[in-house]
Amino acid sequence: MAFPKDFIFSAATASYQIEGGWNADGKGENIWDRLTHNHPELIDGRSNGDIACDSYHKYKEDVALLKDIGFDMYRFSINWARILPTGDITSINEVGIQYYKKLIDELLNNNIQPMVSIYHWDLPQKLQDMGGWLNPLIVDYFEDYADVLFKHLGDKVKWWITLNEPLSVILGYTGYNFAPQLNLDSPAAFIIAHNLLKAHGRVFRLYEEKYKPRQQGKMSISLNWLHCVPKTDSNEDKEAANRAMLFIYGWFAHPIYTKTGDYPEIMRQTIDANSKKEGRNRSRLPTFTSDEIKAIKGSFDFFAVNHYSSMFCSPASDTDSYPLNFFKDSKVKQEIDPRLPAAASEWIRVYPAGFRKLLIWIKNQYGDVPIFVTEHGFSDLGDLNDTGRESYHHSYLKELLRAINEDKCNVIGYTVWSLIDNFEWLEGYKKRFGIVHVDFNDPERKRTQKRSATFFKKLLKTRVLPE
Ligand code: BG6
Repeated sequence: MAFPKDFIFSAATASYQIEGGWNADGKGENIWDRLTHNHPELIDGRSNGDIACDSYHKYKEDVALLKDIGFDMYRFSINWARILPTGDITSINEVGIQYYKKLIDELLNNNIQPMVSIYHWDLPQKLQDMGGWLNPLIVDYFEDYADVLFKHLGDKVKWWITLNEPLSVILGYTGYNFAPQLNLDSPAAFIIAHNLLKAHGRVFRLYEEKYKPRQQGKMSISLNWLHCVPKTDSNEDKEAANRAMLFIYGWFAHPIYTKTGDYPEIMRQTIDANSKKEGRNRSRLPTFTSDEIKAIKGSFDFFAVNHYSSMFCSPASDTDSYPLNFFKDSKVKQEIDPRLPAAASEWIRVYPAGFRKLLIWIKNQYGDVPIFVTEHGFSDLGDLNDTGRESYHHSYLKELLRAINEDKCNVIGYTVWSLIDNFEWLEGYKKRFGIVHVDFNDPERKRTQKRSATFFKKLLKTRVLPE
């Protein structure tokens, strides 16, 4: 099966996970520097991103790999504290700007389009000290930071992602050990989501008004989306799966992609009612002002989605506990299906049909918007002969082509997570997602293409998926 003529193949990384140079050339401290330095026990192998893949110095090798494998695009993120060491525009770190300029030039000289994520979880520590994403004023700081990027890099960047996985940002505030490692109650999750959506909308409009007429780029927000599958054929399970889709993912997608510009109706009703029952005077789910709705509604040029796996859903009973407190209102029990083959990360189960169903769900809910898969990947323990990863990508790409050809989903691009093995947050360097191996014991961080890189190399030459 052939891919459409203009289909874009991309590979992704993120700043904290690959760059290293954690205090090089004036970079400020960020929340992942702080977490890994103060709490090494939370990270597998007590490791950190101080050096990581050393892409701060080896970016040319990364670009050479992209070129050799044949990718059309590279999705990477900018380290906020490398540009603005304290998070605000009182001090701009010129060397940081130069680093990204050089990377972008290297890509363009090799005919590779950059897709730039403005934020992939590495908030400057100074902004965290002011409350981070809980403080509504973060929206202003995010806007100022993005303004600097558009001004200095925007002439050469045509694809922007404002935020990577807002849902994952919340994890670090609600009991999961991601930075900033707080454990706050459910109202916090909804406040943070609200601020993230406002920040996204504000930056979209800034770009649209001040830069887009000249720079002509496209912009979106990458939402992580595990497909929710009914555990059985029962109506209860089907309803639970649909509820999970709305409460977990529609939470971020509805305000942007629907005409209402608000959270899903079912969330509004349920959380308002639950809040009342809890004796609150106001809902835990905040309300957007009409100006905020104006900024957020329709703030996209394409639909960016990160997809790795599926979860099986059924109604939760009163005694069920929830891994994260903000899932509670949905009354859905989510489980991994143990019958499905697993990656090294427990949460990744191979279920390619779920990918196709998700693409159809997005089309049915949000209309015929072009969909860009901005991450998709499989973890193992680092074998160069990574047959599991090869067959994972192969089987999911098959479903993607079916979604395009048979279901008429308008999928325009696909991104491999990740180009290179890197610092996998709490998993340190144990679990590997790269199609290129990195030797973290080697001071030179030698990179070696894996079997899956060869798979992509062949595919990208022919643009035809082998049977
Ligand atoms: C994605 C993130 O959701 O998952 C990546 O955007 C991350 O940054 C990947 O590396 C794998 O996640 P984890 O937590 O298993 O390392």
